[in-house]
Amino acid sequence: MSSKERILNLLESNKDSYLSGEAMAKELSLSRNAIWKAINELRKAGYNIEAISNKGYRLATSNDIISVPGILSYMDDSDSEKIADKIHIYDSLDSTNKYAKELAISGAAHGTLVISKSQTLGKGRRDHSFFSPDGGIYMSIILSPDHLPTLDKDAITTHTGVAVCQAIEELCSISPKIKPINDLFVDGKKVCGILTESGIEFETGLVQWIVIGIGINFDSDISKFPVDLQPVVGSLFSRGNACVTKNELISNIYKRITHWDDVDTTPT
Ligand code: BTN
Repeated sequence: MSSKERILNLLESNKDSYLSGEAMAKELSLSRNAIWKAINELRKAGYNIEAISNKGYRLATSNDIISVPGILSYMDDSDSEKIADKIHIYDSLDSTNKYAKELAISGAAHGTLVISKSQTLGKGRRDHSFFSPDGGIYMSIILSPDHLPTLDKDAITTHTGVAVCQAIEELCSISPKIKPINDLFVDGKKVCGILTESGIEFETGLVQWIVIGIGINFDSDISKFPVDLQPVVGSLFSRGNACVTKNELISNIYKRITHWDDVDTTPT
């Protein structure tokens, strides 16, 4: 059994208490560094492990919980320090775009990321609603014009759609198709909608902020969607059967959208 599996076993059998790194190291005859590495690997694999200083580690009940450490575990160390404070995660919001716009108006920085595990008033294009139950990924990223190579509407739209598509292709081995304006389809069913909004100063016409909202049916239970949507929407994975964690997909999309230069938007 690998160190990772042994640590997981130990955590599983002590779910109600915290185990210090020192106690685990002693119990498993491993170094503190090996424990720390294995905990990180478990987090990358989707396990939600709580850590409290002076107490130790505890396995939370579920293993694909969207969390700041989970997302950061897929970032470069140099990035993660800068990004940690910019990530806002909620169990439920009315709309991540609405909240991100409020943050943008109050001056939130480029790269601020708002995520909700569900939305009660998810917003689609042209004032449509976007059904947003548990199992989906609902995220909004604030972009500041100073950090963008262009403010061209079509370029930003294309960049976003391609970034999300490439992240899904890379991690999920699924190749979605982009349909106008910016919906992603798999096997003819919509799996992702993107809504880009901006704030413009009326007098000067200058763009002050852009909010990119992305809604993905990740391992959503389509049978629980409104009946009129069921024939037209799909999910990347069936419930509980994802081969990648939400944290990893969020992190990959975030990097592609905020690191504009890394995305090749030329049609293939
Ligand atoms: C569409 O299909 O018309 C676009 C849907 C965009 C949905 C996302 S989910 C995250 C963000 N918050 C919202 O309220 N809408 C976007």
